Amino acid sequence: MGRIPEASGSAVTTSVISLRPVTLDDGAHLFEWRNHPAVRQFALQPDAIDWESHCQWLKASLENPQRVLLIGERDDEPVGVLRYDVAETEALVSVYLVPQRMGQGLGAPLLVVGHAWLLSHRPAVRQLNAQIVPENMASVKVFEKAGYQAVSSQAQQGILQYVYRF
Ligand SMILES: CC(C)(COP(=O)(O)OP(=O)(O)OC[C@H]1O[C@@H](n2cnc3c(N)ncnc32)[C@H](O)[C@@H]1OP(=O)(O)O)[C@@H](O)C(=O)NCCC(=O)NCCS
Repeated sequence: MGRIPEASGSAVTTSVISLRPVTLDDGAHLFEWRNHPAVRQFALQPDAIDWESHCQWLKASLENPQRVLLIGERDDEPVGVLRYDVAETEALVSVYLVPQRMGQGLGAPLLVVGHAWLLSHRPAVRQLNAQIVPENMASVKVFEKAGYQAVSSQAQQGILQYVYRF
């Protein structure tokens, strides 16, 4: 059994969200969510994605052992997506909620259940890095609530860097 995260963020209630790996069958949902304006608004790559590119990306992602793609579910319904790009002991994290589930306080719990999943499945990962557009205040708050700390109060090349250490 994986250790429960003890750092700040552990006060977030996570019991309502479970995680499962993304499969090819999730492709249409991922395509719809990723292209939703609310998800693209503050994305580092905000352009809409065409179906063919999306299918190629998903297939390559599922074959890439360095990439972890997870769907968070609540009451058997999807609430959001986590992506970790693992490089040895660190991983770059990306998160979005299913657009209809935004504004319900689910972002921080989704990030925190991701910590528990990584402790169980990728124990070599000791640090998570997040890159946030400064205007994305909801994201800044959610990452801070989940226990991430700003590397600097100043954006570097227009991006805020946040880090979580296990
Ligand atoms: C970022 C995201 C995960 C946050 O989801 P969420 O949990 O629904 O977040 P909420 O809308 O509840 O907002 C979180 C907090 O930010 C606050 N907030 C939201 N928009 C805000 C704004 N424009 N300015 C200031 N505060 C804001 C909320 O009031 C809330 O505060 P509280 O925790 O004190 O109640 C979700 O909006 C999302 O998926 N966005 C698209 C993808 C994305 O931006 N991912 C992050 C990339 S780094």
